[in-house]
Amino acid sequence: MSACDDEPVNGSDDLSQIPYIPEAYINTIPNGLPQLPFTTEDPLTKEGVQLGRHLFYDPILSLDSTIACASCHDPRKAFTDNLAVSPGVGGTVGNRSSMTVLNTAYFYKGLFWDGRAAFLKDQALQPVENPVEMHEMWPAVINKLKRHPNYPAMFRKAFGINSKSEISKELATKAIAQFERILLTGGNSIYQKQIRGELFFDADQQEGHDLYFNIDVLIPDAECFHCHAAPLMMANDYFNNGIDTVTSLDDFKDTGRGGITGVRFDKGKFKAPTLYNIALTAPYMHDGRFKTLEEVIEHYNSGGHFAENKDGFIRKLGLNRRQKQSLIAFLNTLTDTSYLQNPDVLSPF
Ligand code: HEC
Ligand code: HEC
Repeated sequence: MSACDDEPVNGSDDLSQIPYIPEAYINTIPNGLPQLPFTTEDPLTKEGVQLGRHLFYDPILSLDSTIACASCHDPRKAFTDNLAVSPGVGGTVGNRSSMTVLNTAYFYKGLFWDGRAAFLKDQALQPVENPVEMHEMWPAVINKLKRHPNYPAMFRKAFGINSKSEISKELATKAIAQFERILLTGGNSIYQKQIRGELFFDADQQEGHDLYFNIDVLIPDAECFHCHAAPLMMANDYFNNGIDTVTSLDDFKDTGRGGITGVRFDKGKFKAPTLYNIALTAPYMHDGRFKTLEEVIEHYNSGGHFAENKDGFIRKLGLNRRQKQSLIAFLNTLTDTSYLQNPDVLSPF
């Protein structure tokens, strides 16, 4: 916290002279993907999305103005940071790997690897005060925003507040959540274009697709589609995919979902994230333990490590060398970076 945090806000507190005429934001749902949940509760406005976008890219949310949300969720890295664990303020690191923010608006059963935040607006409260991330306190952030030359007017335009004193963490995170709901991907992937008949898979991509979805009885079932289900290639659910060896469910280094539900059988379970853009978001898993997709496929092919709650679909797959490569060729068809062409998605600074 800086020394001047408790000083009165400069200038007039009154914002009511600034016009409040919010315009609906037309959100483009990727071709082949479903409508978003929760859209009627908090309709997107151009002004809300713009405010959220500024907050997402602005290090003002961190203690020493060094870290923005985008530091760990970089649009050029499919909104991850390509690190196993991310440095926050002062270089301290946590024990979990950054997740893509693309398509998170589709998660209706919790955000984070363990699902501890119910909605995007609840999620966005946490990084600010997390000591290994932005290490700031919300009251201090709110003071900085109130004193800022531009933010008070932006809050007025987005939410119709009448005075600077109405700027709150609830409104800030509501705006961030609006911005996150435009971060969508998948419709321009080779996979979706192939479904629309705009192009054809090559032989490797086709075989990988058939392994993934268990289409062809003559080749093994790779079981992927159960947990990374089409068309979103993810699940609103938590599983133990067998990456850890434990003798008892109480031995997981990271308790995952179990740490949130308190249910012993949930220990070591994590969310099955989307596989869109997976080729761009190495390293993999909640702790970034696998450096490459080859390592991921070796893991699944091996059947993983035994634990009482390891999912039944994690079993020895018996894929040969070529089939493993085909599966990766299919995963590569899930890349879609066309969101980078939407100027609203990129940094305003
Ligand atoms: C220092 C790096 C860092 C910063 C800064 C950061 N995040 Fe994250 N983010 C992470 C990590 C690591 C996770 C996974 C944490 C976990 O599961 O416990 C995550 C998870 C998320 C998720 C959940 C995605 C999902 O699929 O469930 C969202 C959404 C998100 N962050 C948005 C934000 C927003 C918004 C901000 C800024 C207010 C922010 N992050 C700041 C590292 C960071
Ligand atoms: C039983 C459900 C289940 C099945 C089946 C499954 N996965 Fe997963 N997958 C998960 C879960 C859960 C995670 C996250 C685990 C963690 O981080 O601890 C995950 C993570 C991944 C990741 C890393 C994601 C990231 O952002 O780091 C990749 C890649 C992946 N799976 C690919 C596959 C492929 C390919 C298959 C088929 C061979 C497959 N999965 C089968 C549940 C499953």
